[in-house]
Amino acid sequence: MRIDILTIFPEFFEEVFDFGIIRRAREAGIVEINVTDIREFAADKHRKTDDRPFGGGEGMVMKCEPIFLAVESLLGTADRDGYPQGTRVVLLTPQGRKLGQPIVEELADEEGRVLIICGRYEGVDERVSEALVTDEISIGDYVLSGGEPAAVVLVDAMTRLLPEALGNESSAERESFSDGIFDFPNYTQPREFRGMEVPEVLLGGNHAEIEAWRREKALEKTKRVRKDLIQGAGD
Ligand code: ADE
Repeated sequence: MRIDILTIFPEFFEEVFDFGIIRRAREAGIVEINVTDIREFAADKHRKTDDRPFGGGEGMVMKCEPIFLAVESLLGTADRDGYPQGTRVVLLTPQGRKLGQPIVEELADEEGRVLIICGRYEGVDERVSEALVTDEISIGDYVLSGGEPAAVVLVDAMTRLLPEALGNESSAERESFSDGIFDFPNYTQPREFRGMEVPEVLLGGNHAEIEAWRREKALEKTKRVRKDLIQGAGD
């Protein structure tokens, strides 16, 4: 899949995708990640990408023109209805649908293309949402200074779902949230550390027992910490 990030801070992304699973997926050609500097599309000589809000008020608003031009340069059109098939244009904003695994699954498409527009927190000219954006997404109910950290979160979550991105295919399936609840607790060597022991059941080699124990622990913690996830998560 191809991912384009549109930002006024391209340097932010210089090394962040050079580690672990994302690095491997890029090297293997499973995902291509490109960063576009919105400032390059600012028409005036000062390369201005924001301005004061009409109607007054605090802060600055990101101008629509540089964003329209950047999207046009990447997709050949700035009309949502004319995008190539399988293209999604995401605006990261606190005023969006809250990101969860179902949205990540919807966006992670090996044949697809996702453009991610990183807004600054004061706001983005509404015409960007009106004409360009297919999905407004928030990564949670808190305010970041800009969409850049949210873009890293989204790209990471999407990339690891792409076929072949994980060395061990089944681990994406097995992990937390693919079945709507938390992951089970894990332990590795040593068997005893500062008086804390690895649960006996994990050392016995009885796979059915281990499976049951893991399910129980996962449910127990989910109920304790995130009761809201239990509804509809099966037994
Ligand atoms: N930009 C500012 N806050 C954000 C959030 N919570 N999610 C996505 N983008 C944002």
